[in-house]
This record gives sequence, C-alpha cells and structure tokens, in this order.
Amino acid sequence: MSEVSLRAITPDDLPTLFENQYDPASAAMAGTPSREEADFYDRRTKVEANPANDTRAIMVDGEMAGDVVSWTDDSGRHIGYRIAQRFWGRGIATAALRLMLTEITDRPIQADLLQTNVGSRRVLEKNGFRLLGPDERPADAEPESHYFRLDA
Ligand SMILES: CC(C)(COP(=O)(O)OP(=O)(O)OC[C@H]1O[C@@H](n2cnc3c(N)ncnc32)[C@H](O)[C@@H]1OP(=O)(O)O)[C@@H](O)C(=O)NCCC(=O)NCCS
Repeated sequence: MSEVSLRAITPDDLPTLFENQYDPASAAMAGTPSREEADFYDRRTKVEANPANDTRAIMVDGEMAGDVVSWTDDSGRHIGYRIAQRFWGRGIATAALRLMLTEITDRPIQADLLQTNVGSRRVLEKNGFRLLGPDERPADAEPESHYFRLDA
C-alpha cells in the first residue's frame, strides 16, 4: 500500500483539480456537473481564499491523487473529497479522509452523496460516519441523496 499524506493546496495544483472534476465518470459519480475552466478557476480561487474552508491536496508517492475539502454553512461542518480516476480502488480516499479527520476536529461533521455512490458510502462508513434515517435528514434533503454524519 502506498503512503497517503495531506498538504496545503497551492495555485499550481489547480490545473490537476480542474481535470479531476472535468472527468465525466467522476462528475457522474459525485452528481455534480463539471465546471468549464473559467468557472472552475473563479469558484476554486474563492474556496481557497475563504478562511472558513479547510482544503488539502491528497499526496500518494509524491503525486497529487486528489483533494479533500471541508466547509461550513448554516447546518454546520461538511466534508467532501475527490480522487483522480487513475488512483481509484487503492484505499486512498479512505486513508485521506482518516487523516483529514485528525486535522479537522469539529463534530458533528456531515457528508452527502448520491445513493448510487457506493464507493463514497464505503469511504464514509469505514471512517465511522452513520447514515441518517428518514427523521434525521435535513429539511431540504435531495431525494436521491444519502446524508451521513460523524458525531463526537
Ligand atoms: C468515491 C471515491 C472518492 C472513492 O475513492 P477511492 O480512493 O477509490 O476509495 P477507496 O479505495 O478508499 O475505497 C473504499 C471502499 O469503497 C469501495 N469502492 C470504491 N469505489 C467503488 C465503486 N466505484 N464501486 C463499488 N465500491 C467501490 C472499495 O472497494 C472500498 O471498499 P472495501 O474497503 O469494503 O473493499 C472516488 O471514486 C471518487 O473520487 N469519485 C468521484 C468523486 C466522488 O464521488 N466524490 C465523493 C462525493 S460524495
């Protein structure tokens, strides 16, 4: 198993992050449409500049394999991640989320995903997240999504 580590994201990482989200298979799995270049750079630059967000590059054997992002809104803290397709299936998302959860210690922390995203579901379950039941889902829950939470 390769060693997974996290580091701060730099502007030089943005082209790779653009390509990762532009991959149709990745976008379909995540259920978020790919952004065109100008839109991506504009939004991601704002995400990186916002001190309320925590973002990390996921490093594997000296290469950036993806990113993990945590943000807050009125409903609390959230987390999401994306791995480049050529790195899928090697336990990298599971290891990266585990590392990020040692750096971001706020709880509860939430994640939502398409119900079809079985890989991401496993990543969350292996890190202790719990699927919210019908009575616990947010008021504005998307019918096609699952909502997971890691409590204290
Ligand atoms: C979902 C995603 C993060 C998984 O990353 P990964 O590094 O391949 O995940 P891991 O290797 O840590 O796999 C964790 C578990 O999920 C399973 N898994 C991963 N991808 C899977 C898939 N496509 N179908 C079924 N199971 C899958 C693995 O077998 C493993 O399960 P196991 O430990 O029980 O054997 C990655 O496919 C991805 O970035 N997808 C696009 C973006 C996305 O969906 N992000 C999450 C948005 S909520």
